[in-house]
Amino acid sequence: MQNSINSTIAFVKKTLENAEAGHDWFHIERVYKTALNINEKEKGHEQVVIFAALLHDIADPKFNNGNEELGPKVAEDFLTSISINEDVIAHVKLIIQNMSFKNSFDSSGFTSKEMQIVQDADRLDAIGAIGIARAFTYGGYKNRVLYDPAIKPEQHLTKESYKNTTAPTINHFYEKLLLLKDMMNTDAGRAIALERHNFMLQYLDHFYNEWEGN
Ligand code: ADP
Ligand code: NI
Repeated sequence: MQNSINSTIAFVKKTLENAEAGHDWFHIERVYKTALNINEKEKGHEQVVIFAALLHDIADPKFNNGNEELGPKVAEDFLTSISINEDVIAHVKLIIQNMSFKNSFDSSGFTSKEMQIVQDADRLDAIGAIGIARAFTYGGYKNRVLYDPAIKPEQHLTKESYKNTTAPTINHFYEKLLLLKDMMNTDAGRAIALERHNFMLQYLDHFYNEWEGN
């Protein structure tokens, strides 16, 4: 098992060599650690959790011309090449297919404890101190302003606001990041989310204060 994990780690590192900072190997490593942490309490199938966490962004549709089939296929081919049990592969594939945030609007309805754990771990990486860093990295990559008091955020996430590519990065907190704590699947994930959520609220308080020169 450890050999298969090591080969998977090497494969993911190599594949994500040139990924942007929000979706690089370190994102995967954090999700992997967090998923294992949650799994200690939730007791899912560990092998499925590990491979799904490691391979969940192996070919993100955002960076592959919207191709949603590529990631699950790359994961399947890789796991087959290292002779992982086919039931495990099938489960990992379903998780990757259904896990993306976009798919949470129109997913096929597939769910499993392991999927919930990995999805929680991925969402947790979007909030708290790391989540803040990732949001501004993404905003910088898209050349967005940090904040513009004249552009009011939506207070909820819509398909339109998700696709909106010009909003200030601070708006993303209201349209997604602050909503994630209520979208957690597992109790263990929710507990971590709550702490990170409160930290973001504190951060926003400071942000607006400093904005006014205080
Ligand atoms: P996932 O981790 O599920 O792939 P995304 O690809 O949507 O999630 O986002 C990756 C990171 O970029 C997250 O931390 C997310 O908050 C951030 N991000 C996505 N869209 C925006 C946006 N419009 N403004 C700022 N940050 C964003
Ligand atoms: Ni991810």
